[in-house]
Amino acid sequence: MIALHNAAQVITPLTGGGFRVVDRGAIVYQQGSIVFAGSSEEALASYPNAERMDVSGKVLLPGFVDAHTHLIFAGNRCNEFLMRLRGATYQEIAAAGGGIQSTVTATRAASPEQLLKSAGEDLQIMLSFGTTTVEIKSGYGLTLESEMKLLHVAKQLRDTSPLDIVITFLGAHDFPKEKSREGYLEDLIKQMLPMVAQGKIADFCDVFCDQGYYSNEQTRIIAQRAVELGLRMKLHVDELADVNGAALAAELNAISADHLIFASDDGIARMAESGVCAVLLPGTSFSLRMPRHAPARKMIRQGVRVAIATDFNPGTCYCHSMQYILQLSTLLYGLTAEEAITAATLNGAAALGLDSRTGSLEPGKQMDCLIFDIPHYGYLFYNLGANRLETVVKQGKVLWNKNQNLH
Ligand code: NIG
Ligand code: FE
Repeated sequence: MIALHNAAQVITPLTGGGFRVVDRGAIVYQQGSIVFAGSSEEALASYPNAERMDVSGKVLLPGFVDAHTHLIFAGNRCNEFLMRLRGATYQEIAAAGGGIQSTVTATRAASPEQLLKSAGEDLQIMLSFGTTTVEIKSGYGLTLESEMKLLHVAKQLRDTSPLDIVITFLGAHDFPKEKSREGYLEDLIKQMLPMVAQGKIADFCDVFCDQGYYSNEQTRIIAQRAVELGLRMKLHVDELADVNGAALAAELNAISADHLIFASDDGIARMAESGVCAVLLPGTSFSLRMPRHAPARKMIRQGVRVAIATDFNPGTCYCHSMQYILQLSTLLYGLTAEEAITAATLNGAAALGLDSRTGSLEPGKQMDCLIFDIPHYGYLFYNLGANRLETVVKQGKVLWNKNQNLH
């Protein structure tokens, strides 16, 4: 049993609502699970035999949950970013042969070993910014064979990484160029989804339902089949236009609706009613240089549970850092520091169905904890662009340390 005590602050959202800040705080844990979180005085009095580690001057937070990434791909689209700096839009670049299709070509050509190596390196960078749980989507294969290749790479990461990894099948990320749209939809329904479900590789199924991509009707057809096969839905919706995607996510009982930049008031109300989490990706609208961002304040006001995530991918948001996303969510959406931390931890876990296990520093939860060398949690926002993280603990084990780079 170990007691981290004397922390400048122990910060955590609370299951069932609320946010707790304990000055001179402590956490006691055993075998990877938290047994106590609260004041140092109480910790040391109640657990006198615990091994003591003094963390004075540090701030302790739950590990970040990155609930939306496209981690597995080959190549890069740095050139597209530079084109956007000269004024081109995402849609213009995609129409000119860039976009998802260019990553599909590179990813199909890559071997599983290459993909595993580069995804593993990206995961290590994410860890160095405090991510301890991550969702990984397929979606850059768009054939039965190549989507299975990506899912198997994700599974290998899940089986070998100390992080918690959740896998989402996003075969409906785009339509492959070599097939008719109807033909690919049929492949998805008749071959790909059954094989994914049978292999028990994916936890969720996702569709890019937006202008120029999957229609609401096509999304319904895919969701119906996925749910029949035991996969719960997540949805990319209302990123490029208001396609009534938020309401569709509610209708399909999705665990989350993601992006939601153009979500309508009615859609937001329906998400609140049905308990669909919003996963907002401020790095994406920022990196795409869009004039608008997801209406996060409105969602919170209406009672939607809001998570934030990186959307890490080679095109719209090449960002590994949940710390950067925390800062953007306050500055672009107007979240408070406490709302942003809750969105990056407990609400991210809820968007993955993992909130009973991780996302907060409460007894019974996994000891997934970040130790920052800052005097107050406000520095996570105030100190733009710095990484003041010192140590990452996952299920009680030190996975990363600033000075040693362990894992
Ligand atoms: O979440 N919107 C769809 N998918 C990604 C972008 C993928 C890409 O451009 O490669 C996203 O923004
Ligand atoms: Fe995405």
